[in-house]
Formats: sequence, structure tokens, C-alpha cells
Amino acid sequence: MSFRTIIMIDQTRLPGEEIYNTYTDYQGVAEAIQGMIIRGAPAIGVAAAMGVALGARGIIADTQESFFRQLDNVCDVLARTRPTAVNLFWAIEKMKKIAEANKGKKLDQIREILKQEAIRIEAEDLTICRNIGKWGATLIPEGATVLTHCNAGGLATAGYGTALGVIRAAHEAGKNILVFADETRPWLQGARLTAWELMKEKIPVTLISDNMAGFFMNRGEITCCVVGADRIAANGDTANKIGTYSVAVLAKENNIPFYVAAPVSTLDLSLSDGSRIPIEERPSTEVTHIRGNSIAPEGINVRNPSFDVTPARYITAIITENGIVKGDFASGLRKISQGLT
Ligand code: MRU
Repeated sequence: MSFRTIIMIDQTRLPGEEIYNTYTDYQGVAEAIQGMIIRGAPAIGVAAAMGVALGARGIIADTQESFFRQLDNVCDVLARTRPTAVNLFWAIEKMKKIAEANKGKKLDQIREILKQEAIRIEAEDLTICRNIGKWGATLIPEGATVLTHCNAGGLATAGYGTALGVIRAAHEAGKNILVFADETRPWLQGARLTAWELMKEKIPVTLISDNMAGFFMNRGEITCCVVGADRIAANGDTANKIGTYSVAVLAKENNIPFYVAAPVSTLDLSLSDGSRIPIEERPSTEVTHIRGNSIAPEGINVRNPSFDVTPARYITAIITENGIVKGDFASGLRKISQGLT
């Protein structure tokens, strides 16, 4: 973030084009989150924090009351972009709290504090991902073939990634691993983003369509699965990209460990279980069209839930920056959220 702008790589154009968009107001940032220009739970959180800082910069106010009223509006607009990834709300709440805590100061000082907080959240996310990687790499055996779904990589975070952070760390540790990337319909995050990221890093990756995962598991070709998360309820139920649940069920059927990698900011311990996680439904054109080309008859009924919830019983372990939780998720997640292992 420079003083006035936020620059983001446009993820809708990858891998064909590497284009960077510049945003000068919070409305643009909100549109970028909604339109998937930036996506992935931690990256959405970082973008929202920066959006709040940018919004604060643009507020014209004579009084504290007016400033805080307008800041609330900025936060509301950003919070309405995507409902499932809890990191969005976590980041906005953090920004609101720090503004409140500095209420007595001059408005320009508050604006500067918000900017520094957004920069801090971004830097912290990178450190968190490296720690997730460090813990997670211990679960990946030498010679493993790791299946992943969607993109939980550098693009979905401030860098390094959560699920791909685990894969990167295992690769950096010298383990000879191979990745199977599910293409991840309808947005194709696996084909477009995960494949692109891993190929750039020269980590061996094989692309498969979503409906091939069971085939390879059944043939004994997959050692373990590692995915990211958008929201994890107190009992370990995990919302992630649509199709994750199917992968988890297939993994259990084939006795393959299924790991979720996510920062503590993805935990939503206020929800007792996954049935309470709001699931985003996105436009039908995402299913009926691929890159603007129609692939279905006009007028067809469509459902397009963007996420599903994997019940905790399918999850072998949850990998966070503070350590790995196995078994009793309810007590383990509570402890790990407080930094206890
Ligand atoms: O709709 P998206 O692309 O934002 O969904 C992304 C995912 O489901 C990721 O797996 C999740 O956000 C974790 S990213 C580290």
C-alpha cells in the first residue's frame, strides 16, 4: 500500500495475463473483493483492512462523530462483499477497534494509525503462513503425492499460502513431493491459480478435473489431501471452496489423511458447528459460462453455492500457525486460538 493507493494482481485474468489494478477508493476495493479480483480468505481480510484505511483517508469530516459515522459506512460496504470467509469480518473488526481505541486523537493521526494497522495485518499474515507451513510440513511424508482443492496459495494470502504453504515448506525441506491440483469449477482456481503458482516455483504439479479425484485415490496414487478454509466452527466443521466436502468424503473412504490448513483468524468459535456458517451463492453465469462462452442452454435453472462445509469427522487434523489440532477439535481449537498447544 502506498500512501494513496492499493495495488492488486487481477486474479480473474490469470494465468493468461499478469495485470495489476490500482485502487484509489474503498468502493473499488469492495468491488474487487466481490468480483474475485482478489480472493481467498486471508487475502480478502488484508484487502478489507486496506480498504478501511483507504476509506478513512477519503473521509471529509469536521467532527469526530462525522468521521466515525462515515467510517462505519466504509466498514459496512466492505463487510457486504462476501459472507463466508470470516477473515473479512475479523479484519474489519480489528480496524474498527483500533480506530475506536484512538478516538481522542486528531483525524489525521487516526488515518495514519489505520494505514499502519493494515500494513501490519498484511505483514503478519505472511509470517502466519510460514508458520502454518512449518507445522504442516511435518505431516507430509517424503515422496508424497498431495491433492489440493481450489487455491490456498500465495495469491489467497499475503504470500506463501496456507495449504500451498504446507506444500511449499515440505518442498523447501527437500522432500520429493508431487501435487495433484483439482481444477475447481466453476471459477477454476485450481487450474488457473494453483497450477500457475506451483509451476512458477517448480514444484511438480499435475492438473486433474474435479471428478477425477476419486479415481486417483482409489488407485492408491494420493498420499494425503491438504486444503485451506474460509471459516472453521468451534467443533472443527470447516467451510471451504465448493467440492471440498466431496474430496473429504472420498479421502475417508480411501483411508487417506485429510488436512485443513488455516490461520487462527479463520476460526469462528462463536459458531458451535458448521450448519451456522453462511454460504455464499454466486451468479448463475459462473456455472453456465466459461470465460464468457455459454456452455449450457439459455434459461436453464442453476444453483451456485460457492462453499460447502466438511464435517469435522472427515478431517484428520487442522494446521494453524500455533500448531496442529487433532482429535478433540472443540477443546483443541479453543486452546490453539489462545496460542496454547
Ligand atoms: O471463492 P474463493 O476463491 O475466495 O475461495 C477460496 C477458498 O475456498 C480457499 O480455499 C480459502 O479461502 C482458503 S485461502 C488460503
